[in-house]
Amino acid sequence: MQTYPSLFICPICGKPLLRMDTSYRCWGGHSFDIAAAGYTHLLPANKMHSKNPGDDKAMVAARTAFLDAGYYAPLRDALCRAALDRCGDTEKSYTIFDCGCGEGYYTAGIAQSLRQAGLTCRIGGIDISKFALRKAAKRLPDSEFAVASAYHLPMGDACVDLLFNVFSPMAREEFLRVLRPGGHLIYVVPSARHLWEMKSLLYKTPYENDDAREDYEGFIHEETLEVREIIHLQNSDHIMALFGMTPYAHKTPKAGIERLQALDTLDTAIGFDVHIYRKL
Ligand SMILES: C[S@@+](CC[C@H](N)C(=O)[O-])C[C@H]1O[C@@H](n2cnc3c(N)ncnc32)[C@H](O)[C@@H]1O
Ligand SMILES: [Zn+2]
Repeated sequence: MQTYPSLFICPICGKPLLRMDTSYRCWGGHSFDIAAAGYTHLLPANKMHSKNPGDDKAMVAARTAFLDAGYYAPLRDALCRAALDRCGDTEKSYTIFDCGCGEGYYTAGIAQSLRQAGLTCRIGGIDISKFALRKAAKRLPDSEFAVASAYHLPMGDACVDLLFNVFSPMAREEFLRVLRPGGHLIYVVPSARHLWEMKSLLYKTPYENDDAREDYEGFIHEETLEVREIIHLQNSDHIMALFGMTPYAHKTPKAGIERLQALDTLDTAIGFDVHIYRKL
């Protein structure tokens, strides 16, 4: 049986967890099964507000199909560059954590680029959706994934070198706690005109996103990488999958959705601001 210290700590008593073949155990005697798909459940029952929180199976499947078609590869490549620029020492082992990792598209890309560069890293991710983590754990079977909340991370203090947050909830205090001093928070938000052409079809008067960068206490802003591209959506499935990934899916009038559904292809702008902050 293989046993090794986990990136995660026990959500009940806060002691370190040991990872065994099919479960995690803490020194206090608590134990957590590893699902057949490879993730574990570390969300305390009193923090669970629904049986299956977060993105459901259909939303995860649509996002996986869209991301695997490569439309957001420019963002993945920017995240890989950000990671490579900050992890240069082949003698060191880096801890990379993806908070709200979803189905692990970016987590897997970052892991691959660091390992290809000969770097040693431990990779972990959490998400509130078990359906997303099933896919993430399949993409990266040698990494650790847990159902958990960004606001109660099952991780010790000052253990993370790079913390990624791609379109997921910002939990400043927890991020500050788990990052080591000098560690980096890499926070992705949409730019002002992200998906502009899609929004122009959905709404009579589309608004630009508010892209003002925020400062977060305890962090210093180091740089922002701007990713701007036009993508060519090749079929209706991809158009609707992208729509389903956006917040507009919940608040678009029927006529707007019908205009989108009538299309076979769509060219639209994508834009991401990758804000990189260093923990002081
Ligand atoms: C827009 S998706 C982004 C997923 C992934 N980072 C990506 O870009 O493909 C937001 C993710 O945050 C997760 N999420 C929402 N609230 C959360 C919370 N409180 N703690 C952890 N994850 C959460 C959702 O389940 C979902 O997977
Ligand atoms: Zn415990």
